Amino acid sequence: MRKDFPLFKYRKTLHYLDNAATTQKPKVVIDTISGHLSKDNANTHRGIYDLSEQVTARVAASRKTIAGFVNADPLEIIFVRNTTEGMNQLANSLGKNFAQGSGNAGNIVVTEIEHHSNFVPWQELARSKGMEFRVARLDKESLLLESIAGLVDDKTRIVSFTAISNVTGAMLDVKKIVGDIRAKNPNTIIIVDAAQAIAHEKVDVKDWDVDFLCFSMHKIYGPLIGVVYGKKSLLERIHPFFYGGNMISTVTIEKSTWADLPEKFEAGTINGPAIIASAEAVKYLEGIGFAKTMAVEERLRAYTIKQLRAIPQVKILGHSKVKDPVHQITGYGPVISFTVDGVHPHDLATICNKHQVCIRAGHHCCQPFMHALGIAATARASLAFYNKKQDSDALITAIKDAIKTITR
Ligand SMILES: Cc1ncc(COP(=O)(O)O)c(C=O)c1O
Repeated sequence: MRKDFPLFKYRKTLHYLDNAATTQKPKVVIDTISGHLSKDNANTHRGIYDLSEQVTARVAASRKTIAGFVNADPLEIIFVRNTTEGMNQLANSLGKNFAQGSGNAGNIVVTEIEHHSNFVPWQELARSKGMEFRVARLDKESLLLESIAGLVDDKTRIVSFTAISNVTGAMLDVKKIVGDIRAKNPNTIIIVDAAQAIAHEKVDVKDWDVDFLCFSMHKIYGPLIGVVYGKKSLLERIHPFFYGGNMISTVTIEKSTWADLPEKFEAGTINGPAIIASAEAVKYLEGIGFAKTMAVEERLRAYTIKQLRAIPQVKILGHSKVKDPVHQITGYGPVISFTVDGVHPHDLATICNKHQVCIRAGHHCCQPFMHALGIAATARASLAFYNKKQDSDALITAIKDAIKTITR
């Protein structure tokens, strides 16, 4: 499968272990963008000429493919820039329905392990509307979260949580958590950040019964584009946030009305080439089969964990079985954060770079998570199905080199 990714042909000695940040692209995705821009480029929607109509039809077909991938209706798929923009769009759209309050305007629930893009928009919405901002806290020792549903009451307007942590790879039991939340308050809007999950588990919006869900195609072998899924009945009810071309039905001096779904939420020219190539990424993945990619990733994850555990100075965050009284975590995806005694994560990443090993070091856009652990940063290796054992071996060699160089 690695041969499908041109980057590895050009950089034969590279060990790319930063897949949680962004994945490499298969040739079919690159060729689709290039082919589209070379031969088929035109704006969607606007033209009454063949070329534009062909692009419009291709975008519609691509939307259908991407919708099918998460078991949604194409009308429920909104294209945005990335997960971050999706969450901000949701916070601003939903916020228009919330009256200004002062403490009694209800509450919003998130968790302490969220990426900033699923934390700050809700924190800001709560602050601007005088709502209570509730955070499910992390236990420093077990790395388990307190019950998310436990924070929900009859005043909870929104709960937003990640399906997989981009720090530890912890996989949350979305279906169970959603069921628990609905049992406490059936009217709460439930949003899932699937930025990591989309690459490592089967995301099925109907099975999970979420109201909204965001993910980024660039983390799943596609171009730089994001997706917001929303339940049709909710998307029809809520206000758009971006206004302008394409999203209107009528505009007069007195007032404007909105286009039908999904255009209502897609103001301006949409990124046709990226949407079309995203569908090719999905088809490519479906061609391999999710069962296969997940099995390969799990084998590599287990191999890497075993190698890391053999180095006494290395401390891995999570990835071992602990008793989970609330049953919120089902396991771990191939995202591994760790620290090395006596070696700062940034120094480690620098030495890894010398070994041509690409890892991430820092707070991973999760400062509340780091704060809960009482550390400033971790090193993170994140795997994809195109990685090889040799990539993990190179990481281990680099870690040993860093320990020898810095702590001797
Ligand atoms: C869990 C999670 N949520 C949100 C994001 C933000 O994604 P993007 O940068 O594509 O907006 C990331 C990116 O790393 C992530 O890992």
